[in-house]
Amino acid sequence: MPKIDVAIIGASGYTGLELIKILINHPHFTIRYIATSEGGVSASELHPSLACVFEQDVQKADAKEVAKHATLAFLALPHKAAMGFAKELLDLHVKVVDLSADYRLELEAYEKHYCEHEDKEHLSEAVYGLPEIHKARIQNARLIANPGCYPTASILGILPFLPYLNKEAPIFIDAKSGVSGAGKKLTPTAHFVAINENMFAYNPLKHRHEPEIAEKLRQISAHAFEVNFIPHLLPLTRGMLVSSYLQTDETIDAKAVLRAYYADATFVRVRETPVEIKATAGTNFCDIFVTQKGKSLFVSSAIDNLLRGASSQAVVNANLMCGLDETAGIPMIAYVP
Ligand SMILES: NC(=O)c1ccc[n+]([C@@H]2O[C@H](COP(=O)([O-])OP(=O)(O)OC[C@H]3O[C@@H](n4cnc5c(N)ncnc54)[C@H](OP(=O)(O)O)[C@@H]3O)[C@@H](O)[C@H]2O)c1
Repeated sequence: MPKIDVAIIGASGYTGLELIKILINHPHFTIRYIATSEGGVSASELHPSLACVFEQDVQKADAKEVAKHATLAFLALPHKAAMGFAKELLDLHVKVVDLSADYRLELEAYEKHYCEHEDKEHLSEAVYGLPEIHKARIQNARLIANPGCYPTASILGILPFLPYLNKEAPIFIDAKSGVSGAGKKLTPTAHFVAINENMFAYNPLKHRHEPEIAEKLRQISAHAFEVNFIPHLLPLTRGMLVSSYLQTDETIDAKAVLRAYYADATFVRVRETPVEIKATAGTNFCDIFVTQKGKSLFVSSAIDNLLRGASSQAVVNANLMCGLDETAGIPMIAYVP
């Protein structure tokens, strides 16, 4: 089977590097084009860890050049920058997996929480790339809105219980992320001195991932649950732990519901003890644990924010879009110890 040529735009960032690392060893994809806003360096000048392994030239990002070299492009760019490229690439018949938020939300919510949308034409055709809910649609998509990291861990934890939830009860999500979740640009809270041996909530009840979680839960359940989302920053490089507090209508066997829901899932592992970040770091797995006191459920989910929360999920989506096995090239062994 001939290999499929792919491009990465935003190769200098954290998720860009993870895409390179996955795609270097991918059995069916070849990286033909990598780009940043300026180009003019080699991949190992951008990322010294790639020296002697991957030395490809980095280009100044140009959609027309992408179309000459690749049939699918990963956009590892900030929101707004991504939609400019996606629009042009789709018109040039290049499939797109966008890691940014640009195509994740309905128009009104996007413009309320991000900025004016500059590619309304393609927004409605974008498929939300969570394979556990949209596998068939992903297989036929040209444009994937790769889910956010917090929404991935939160939605996967809550999903099995949606039919049983008390519709009057708010959902509370307490989430914690490693610092790489914010990307490579330095912010005051990401300074070593600010986060080392520290932990704090940020943007409580007003983080941009709250509307993403609420919208997807509404679309799946046809009910607008009240979602209260509180993210925290942890002094870790990577990893994400999400605690969801749910109320059911009746007393259910939550462990049985969770096990049954994910019985055939490739990249969700149902655990019998509370989950931990390290067992998922370096992999595409989402680990989930549930326990209950009557109708009150505690659901705990863990992912690697850079992989299941971004780059490996993006490659799973690309695999599905190209008719490949979803597991092709996807990391499954955790960085342990
Ligand atoms: N970090 C995570 O855990 C995570 C998880 C899920 C989703 N995401 C999303 O994924 C996207 C990338 O995140 P990240 O963490 O990798 O960010 P990052 O580390 O800040 O990298 C973004 C890269 O985009 C490049 N860039 C910016 N504007 C560009 C342009 N106009 N043309 C070409 N390249 C441009 C920048 O490279 P140069 O300035 O060097 O050109 C930068 O290296 C974001 O939308 C983010 O929200 C991130």
